[in-house]
Amino acid sequence: MSENLTLPAQQGSTGNPSSAETLLSVEGLTKHFPIYGGFPIKRKVGAVQAVDGVDLTVGVGESLGLVGESGCGKSTTGRLITRLLEPTGGRITYKGQDITHARRRQLAPVRSEIQMIFQDPYSSLNPRQTVGSIIKSPMEVNGIDPAGGREKKVRELLELVGLNPEHYNRFPHEFSGGQRQRIGVARALALNPKLIVADEPVSALDVSIQAQVVNLLKKVQDELGIAFLFIAHDLAVVRHFSHRVAVMYLGKVVEVGDRESIYNGPRHPYTHALLSAVPEVKVADEGEGEGEGRERIRLYGDVPSPIMPPSGCRFRTRCWKAQDKCATEEPPLVQISGNRDGHLTACHFPEGPTTESRGEDVVLDPALKALEKSAEKD
Ligand SMILES: Nc1ncnc2c1ncn2[C@@H]1O[C@H](COP(=O)(O)OP(=O)(O)OP(=O)(O)O)[C@@H](O)[C@H]1O
Ligand code: SF4
Ligand SMILES: [Mg+2]
Repeated sequence: MSENLTLPAQQGSTGNPSSAETLLSVEGLTKHFPIYGGFPIKRKVGAVQAVDGVDLTVGVGESLGLVGESGCGKSTTGRLITRLLEPTGGRITYKGQDITHARRRQLAPVRSEIQMIFQDPYSSLNPRQTVGSIIKSPMEVNGIDPAGGREKKVRELLELVGLNPEHYNRFPHEFSGGQRQRIGVARALALNPKLIVADEPVSALDVSIQAQVVNLLKKVQDELGIAFLFIAHDLAVVRHFSHRVAVMYLGKVVEVGDRESIYNGPRHPYTHALLSAVPEVKVADEGEGEGEGRERIRLYGDVPSPIMPPSGCRFRTRCWKAQDKCATEEPPLVQISGNRDGHLTACHFPEGPTTESRGEDVVLDPALKALEKSAEKD
């Protein structure tokens, strides 16, 4: 395992979902968390619309990045797909089988093929169990006996993730954050998964360690052909890991496409804003000057509450292009003119497919804009 601190450039990605056999597809996926109130009898008074009609596909061996600001529903989407949460609506299809409401027994074979890596490498490992028993436990629960025995398999997995197999009997507190996340990766690999949902797997780690863990996941993906749903705030991390990228805003996917289309020809104003906020990372094997001439859009203001999302387009309260139509008609997620195949955008008035520098900053917070104007006058 290379401990190289730079991120690897993506090699050989087709970026085209139609070229890969579909492993997972999600249609109209919805999760509304009910809110109860009232006294003395509690009743439902509203709902948090955490995920509201999400469509996604992940091909065999493909990596899909899912990005967006805090609270937009990324983790909820991941937990619905791994069936840790019960969907309110929509459909989840895995290898052609509808698993949306599959019961425990029907789900058992699928559960072992879809695994999750969590954000926090501290709370996701039981401190009272040795590393060996943590990695072994999915095999025990699922009654899987690999050739050569479970202990041998655990030692192989430790080696694969760059840990010393001799540390089999150590406890999680004896490891650093990055090493603990490697234990989480080994545990996810114990059942030979076909799909891993990685929920911000590096965001709790020190920046210097993040690239090492991303490199490890990339190696796992390339060598074992495992598909990934890689959830992140950070577009820079997702860029070098994903064949395709989906951008979420307030419970909905607003833009999805292959890596090149999203980074070099974004059409949705929110994607433009997110990209303009990303400091480009110096990447191994990629040319100089990446990201030069990126427009400067400062995305200020909070994401509105998912309890009462704005009508029409949910981004309209922060969008500098919003018009009346945006408040009355929800823009469908479609392939708009000028987009490459599979690049879908949900916007009535999309930006041009360019990342050329703008003449002036676009400031998305009206209050900030007013302040800046008054400062200019002084
Ligand atoms: N169990 C729950 N009950 C009620 N509301 C919830 C629950 N879980 C999540 N939510 C709400 O659903 C919305 C989406 O949350 P989610 O954790 O999916 O967002 P996220 O995109 O993963 O955010 P972050 O980047 O901060 O991890 C948020 O408003 C959150 O408060
Ligand atoms: S539909 Fe309107 S408000 Fe929404 S992103 Fe497009 S221009 Fe902005
Ligand atoms: Mg989350």
